[in-house]
Amino acid sequence: MYRMSEKPLIGADKICERVATLAREIVAVYDYDILLSALTGAYMFTADLSRELAKAQGVKALQRKIAFIKASSYGVSTESSGNLTVTGLEKVDISGKKVLLVDDIADTGSTLLGLLNMLRERGAKEVRSCVLLNKQERRTVDFKADFVGFEIANEFVVGYGLDFADDYRTLPEIWTLQETD
Ligand code: IMP
Ligand code: MG
Repeated sequence: MYRMSEKPLIGADKICERVATLAREIVAVYDYDILLSALTGAYMFTADLSRELAKAQGVKALQRKIAFIKASSYGVSTESSGNLTVTGLEKVDISGKKVLLVDDIADTGSTLLGLLNMLRERGAKEVRSCVLLNKQERRTVDFKADFVGFEIANEFVVGYGLDFADDYRTLPEIWTLQETD
């Protein structure tokens, strides 16, 4: 059994503020062609981030595309299995493009490393990655996100798009999930 922490780990206002700052940090250094979002976990972050990016880009926002892929690893558990399945990538024109890859969290790093390799194989000119959350302690592969919203400890978190077996996704804050007996 699991239960939510009594208070959010990161409140909605704090997320909102950080996402706006993060967008300005990205726009200052990376003139990407396409934002590629990894569903489902990144859906809420992507909506907020893309809006803040457009505000920071001004007229340049007119040339920026957005596309979605679905990246999932099997199993209903708090441990990702590392068995990566990606759908929707075949419909996205990646060749010769500068990609901003957006995901909810870098945990072991295997999802994002797998995605980076796929995008390079498909001829992306450049790929930089952006995650809302980074759990550095959990890393098992050589992956480093270029842009990070928040560094967090080795805890399972839910809310703001992140789920546990499809629950808790729609909460506006990020909460810690704790195991009970
Ligand atoms: P990876 O281990 O870095 O490949 O992460 C795979 C996926 O596991 C992430 O994209 C998330 O969807 C999910 N995940 C990892 N850690 C958490 C967490 O703390 N809460 C919810 N989902 C998580
Ligand atoms: Mg995910």
